[in-house]
Amino acid sequence: MRQNRYSFTPLVLVVALYASQINATISSKRGLAYSGDSHDADYNLLLSAESPISWYYTWSLNQAQDVNDTVTFIPLIHNTDDASNSNLGSILNALPSSSTHLLSFNEPDGTTGSGGSSIEPEDAARSYLDSIAPFRDSETRSWNISHPSITGSTQGLDWLRSFNESCYDLDPAGCPTDFVAVHWYGDFSGLASWLGTLHEFYTANSTGQEDLKFWVTEMALPQQDDDATVSMMNQSLAYLDGLDYVEAYAWFGAFRSGDDANGFTGDAVSLFDDDGGLTELGSLYLGGEENGFAKGTKGEGDSAASTTSMSTWAVVVAGLAVVSALW
Ligand SMILES: *[C@@H]1O[C@H](CO)[C@@H](O)[C@H](O)[C@H]1NC(C)=O
Ligand SMILES: *[C@@H]1O[C@H](CO)[C@@H](O)[C@H](O)[C@H]1NC(C)=O
Ligand SMILES: *[C@@H]1O[C@H](CO)[C@@H](O)[C@H](O)[C@H]1NC(C)=O
Ligand SMILES: *[C@@H]1O[C@H](CO)[C@@H](O)[C@H](O)[C@H]1NC(C)=O
Ligand SMILES: *[C@@H]1O[C@H](CO)[C@@H](O)[C@H](O)[C@H]1NC(C)=O
Repeated sequence: MRQNRYSFTPLVLVVALYASQINATISSKRGLAYSGDSHDADYNLLLSAESPISWYYTWSLNQAQDVNDTVTFIPLIHNTDDASNSNLGSILNALPSSSTHLLSFNEPDGTTGSGGSSIEPEDAARSYLDSIAPFRDSETRSWNISHPSITGSTQGLDWLRSFNESCYDLDPAGCPTDFVAVHWYGDFSGLASWLGTLHEFYTANSTGQEDLKFWVTEMALPQQDDDATVSMMNQSLAYLDGLDYVEAYAWFGAFRSGDDANGFTGDAVSLFDDDGGLTELGSLYLGGEENGFAKGTKGEGDSAASTTSMSTWAVVVAGLAVVSALW
């Protein structure tokens, strides 16, 4: 896996503190779900100065080597092994101070064979209370943490109900959460409805959680044609930008169509064409031609640098297989 390249020199500290002052929260809702693709040029374009992308995550605790520290990194504790790693505290402490949010357990209602973290709700509750919740207010650093990110499905919601019950069995205060991570694969009305369901679960049906923020960390319309996909993204961006309780979102996926495209989602969700130019979808995600990102625009730099983390990619592919099975 990648090594963390952040080094804790006084200069870096000063810069980081300054950055956290001017940008206590992310500057735009739009983010990058970094799949570990091998084209540096594509990431250079996605993260160039005029891009609206302000944050990214890698489904792991590791920053991407080819992403500039000016883009806020959001770490993710993938499974209970990550949570119980005795180095977890030092790994988190070494991240830039602009990282203020921490995601937990990726698709715990999905199997590991298909990229989820396959955790029994009771085990997840115990691990969350023992190993994750304390980071909300540790001696060195405080994090905003999220409950596990379930699949966008009835199975996910059932898992979340059991998790909640286990949390209250273990602790009279339940499992605290500062924000909620949401995954959705489907059409726009399904996305709006699923967000509404989770919002109701966490606000109307719980006490004291009215100001919770939601982060859509995976979303796409799988297996449709280009026009339908562009239209779904267009509707979704406008909707999510206007919804106060949504603080951030990331499209799946930041890859090229053709060989690089994800098998479950299909080609049309790709932000890049197979030659590295922005698709109409990619152009839309970056703010369009008026923002300097016309369809066909390519990034600068090595178009095929080999920094791919296949393990990250495999996890993503597998994760989608779960959703595919439920689809
Ligand atoms: C990081 O991004 C900033 C702002 O776009 C740019 O000035 C700087 O050169 C970039 N640094 C690296 C290492 O790419
Ligand atoms: C948590 O997020 C809120 C805004 O969403 C921010 O004001 C607060 O500083 C964050 N807390 C930490 C510990 O970063
Ligand atoms: C979580 O569990 C508690 C305790 O059983 C219950 O009061 C609460 O309604 C549950 N929350 C949800 C959203 O189901
Ligand atoms: C919220 O509670 C109402 C009333 O008990 C229930 O009908 C609804 O299904 C709950 N919603 C969720 C998302 O759990
Ligand atoms: C997005 O929606 C707006 C408003 O409905 C519309 O004017 C615009 O043409 C759409 N753009 C795309 C690329 O579909």
